Amino acid sequence: MIPHDPNRSQVDPRHLATTGRERELYELLCGTGYVPGKEVFGDFCESLKSGRVWLISGTRGSGKTAFPEALAQACNLTMCVVSGRDGLKQEEILYDWDREEQEVWMRENLSVAKGLPVSEQPEFLEKARRMKWQRQFLILGEVGLAYDLAAKAVKSKTPPPVLLLDESDKFGASIEDSLLMPLERGLIYIPRYEAGRIGITERESRPIVITTSNDLRHKLSGPFISRHIYSRFANPTLEKELEILLARNPDASSAQLALAIKLLDAVRGIAGMEDHPSIRESIDVAGAFVRDAVESLDDDSLTRYFCYFVKTGEARELLSLQLDYLLAMTNAFHPVIDTWLADRDALWASRWLRLAGQTGGRW
Ligand SMILES: Nc1ncnc2c1ncn2[C@@H]1O[C@H](COP(=O)(O)OP(=O)(O)O)[C@@H](O)[C@H]1O
Ligand SMILES: [Mg+2]
Repeated sequence: MIPHDPNRSQVDPRHLATTGRERELYELLCGTGYVPGKEVFGDFCESLKSGRVWLISGTRGSGKTAFPEALAQACNLTMCVVSGRDGLKQEEILYDWDREEQEVWMRENLSVAKGLPVSEQPEFLEKARRMKWQRQFLILGEVGLAYDLAAKAVKSKTPPPVLLLDESDKFGASIEDSLLMPLERGLIYIPRYEAGRIGITERESRPIVITTSNDLRHKLSGPFISRHIYSRFANPTLEKELEILLARNPDASSAQLALAIKLLDAVRGIAGMEDHPSIRESIDVAGAFVRDAVESLDDDSLTRYFCYFVKTGEARELLSLQLDYLLAMTNAFHPVIDTWLADRDALWASRWLRLAGQTGGRW
């Protein structure tokens, strides 16, 4: 669990969504440097309004994990996180009993019982055995904790926590099954526990649950998916990607932004590249250009930056044969990219206008 900052005020994103203040929520997210896609943000708001869990799938590096992180940061919410991996156990994520402490408890009570009149011992021990299943011996996993915190948040009139179920395609069938009840009813039933269950049934007060999937390891089960509102994180448009690059690298010059995005756009267009560079890579490349104050590339420097977005030997070979093409693309006018930059940067606009003048209006 990552607790919220007690020194900052909290915002309830569900309250914003249900009171028509979605724009405010969007701005809060952007304030963290995360720029959500308009469509997926709309889906997220639907999930908030309906109290349903939100499932996002998409390629690696498309911003799935970063979304709930940005949400927790923007609204100052406590965040519970389950990271998918093979062999994850129910008791790790829902609850477990602290067996050692329970044993100590029983041992202590047995020794107390020995000092009591024989007639009182059975009743005393019976009570001690029942109390073995009290809250103090319950260890909550991240999912249990999130639902429990949400129930407490209602009492303290504070916003619910965020629960991130990350890379759920690695959970496997038994973990998915164990999540069906909390995701649907908001409750986790605990056999023998004195209160019987933890959680909160009211949808408007439940944790804000965001499930991600890379669609790689296992296919998610129908019942698990059906408990969610679904969105796909597609590759952003070039304009959106520029917005993100600028949000993540606020010090980047127009030349550096243009260089990074033209380069990656050209790489993505090369036939035979299997693993396309994602937003993660373009942010890193732009970051490297800012750090190294790079505003143009040649054969050597381009090859040096390959390591940021070329992830296999074959891809490196393929791209090494395309150096001239890639360099030409980074220097060429791109209608979408250069118009976007020119709209924000008068110097950039005049640079391309000047060039247009030299080429008789042809860019
Ligand atoms: N829309 C976005 N706005 C800002 N940063 C983004 C966006 N999408 C992705 N990123 C950044 O790209 C990187 C990869 O995102 P991440 O959420 O880890 O990808 P995923 O979980 O989909 O594999 C992170 O550094 C993240 O902050
Ligand atoms: Mg991720």
